Amino acid sequence: MTEPVKCSVMPKRSIFLTSALPYANGSIHIGHLVEYIQTDIWSRFQRIQGHEVVYVGADDTHGTPIMLKAEKDGLSPEALIEQVWKEHTKDFEDFGVGFDLYHSTHSEENRRLSEEIYRALQKAGLIEVRRIEQMYDPEKGMFLPDRFVKGECPKCGAKDQYGDSCEACGATYLPTDLRNPYSAVSGAKPETRESDHYFFKLSDPRCHQFLREWALESNRLQPEAANKLKEWLGEDEQGQAKLGDWDISRDAPYFGFEIPDAPGKFFYVWLDAPVGYYAALAKWCEKSGQDLQRFIAADSTVEQVHFIGKDILYFHTLFWPAMLKFAGLRTPTNVFAHGFLTVDGAKMSKSRGTFITASSYIAQGLNPEWLRYYFASKLNGSMEDLDLNFNDFIAKVNSDLVGKYANIASRCAGFITKRFNGELLGDARDEQGQTDHSDLEAMFPEAAPKIADGYENRDTARVVREFLVLMDAVNGYVDTHKPWELARQEGQEARLHRVLSTSLRCFARLSILLKPICPRTVARVETEVFGCPSLQWSQLDRPPVAKVGSFSHLMTRVDRTAIDSLIEANALPA
Ligand code: 2FM
Ligand code: ZN
Repeated sequence: MTEPVKCSVMPKRSIFLTSALPYANGSIHIGHLVEYIQTDIWSRFQRIQGHEVVYVGADDTHGTPIMLKAEKDGLSPEALIEQVWKEHTKDFEDFGVGFDLYHSTHSEENRRLSEEIYRALQKAGLIEVRRIEQMYDPEKGMFLPDRFVKGECPKCGAKDQYGDSCEACGATYLPTDLRNPYSAVSGAKPETRESDHYFFKLSDPRCHQFLREWALESNRLQPEAANKLKEWLGEDEQGQAKLGDWDISRDAPYFGFEIPDAPGKFFYVWLDAPVGYYAALAKWCEKSGQDLQRFIAADSTVEQVHFIGKDILYFHTLFWPAMLKFAGLRTPTNVFAHGFLTVDGAKMSKSRGTFITASSYIAQGLNPEWLRYYFASKLNGSMEDLDLNFNDFIAKVNSDLVGKYANIASRCAGFITKRFNGELLGDARDEQGQTDHSDLEAMFPEAAPKIADGYENRDTARVVREFLVLMDAVNGYVDTHKPWELARQEGQEARLHRVLSTSLRCFARLSILLKPICPRTVARVETEVFGCPSLQWSQLDRPPVAKVGSFSHLMTRVDRTAIDSLIEANALPA
């Protein structure tokens, strides 16, 4: 056995990384998983490169829907969010999403930071109180968010439409425009009532100017996102700036944080939700003895990177950077958005059974690494939607991961343990002359920069394509040399040993490349196949593997019946 090799690469970049915070009133489903898996892959890639990454998450716990759901379930909001927090953390663990800390927006850290940011905005002259009219449910005694007012569309007359838009004709309007409105909470006819609301003055020229400069900095946002932002920051037909002030308060009863010096007024959930990123970071800093200021002070050199879905771009590229800037804090380095997930070409649907929860996937005994690999093969760093096509999923996993990747180990490891006590020869490039053995070994350092570039730019579809080229080359090499025939021939010992050694060292290299996507499988390869410490990117050229142990098969095939059962388990009863 060779000495364990330590990774000598020092951290070069420091990155504070987040995925969007899921609401605490529902289960994690495969649509959410696109984002957590994408962020986790990126985080693992940065780490394997030797960079420092702090990756945190939290449940987004405040707001009217959570308050009402708790009431419906006969629970206090605190009890509901605690229960959901447990479910969410288990789901993330099951899918290998490696948060350094998973917190909650209903935490003391978040209250303190939200208040501090609010007070700083107030000091900067960016908070204003204004009296506004809103729909009020007299039976329930509460103001109604737009989504909780229903009625007939003012344009096409369709019944039971939400207070902000019509699902039948696509019209957008104000809840006060609905015909025959009713409260979705109690069914009562809503009244219009006045109330004082707190506004963040985004229309202030300072905000506009800052956001324009921030958004246009090169490589901060994807081109599609930067274009959206330009549109939002533009002017309407009357030459008026489109970006108006932002209403950050809600009236009691509301589950959230009361606004300082404003009894009965609460921060709107979207005010304290992104602050939750910092609350989780603060908690992590406290636990690990680090200084929060190093990450959040205006002059921080740490990168701050947010992964989000394209539907919440507005909050992350307008409100959040402006809040931070005018509170005297650093602003995000990057906001990266992904598209929506469809299943078999259609929107996820509860009646069709394609609204698949993370826990049901695990309950069916499906391997989370299959989904990680499949999503990786579809994500290309753009905001385009992506489709989970189950037949394609089955074909890809069975062909690539089982038929190509795991198969290399199964075809070669038995011979090397039986015939050569598991010992590998050195790198073929150290022997004299160029051979197809040395050519194969040399393919990896050549391909590595392209693969690294794919990972860095979240173009894991490209990573997977490059990975396939390499796997095909290794499998082609094994097919050409036919170790199973060499093993039967006299005088072919040396050649057999060379072929097996080269194939297995290349398998170790493939494992390094695959590690961010399939961390659990590769962890088994490290411990069971090679008995070596954690493999690093810097070892790609010469992985420190000298011996192969016996192991049970690395991955099983996906079976269509398991997918059918999964869909059935998620289908609502007719
Ligand atoms: O859209 C959502 O699901 C929100 N809960 C995301 C919040 S992200 C962050 F800002 F907290
Ligand atoms: Zn309509």
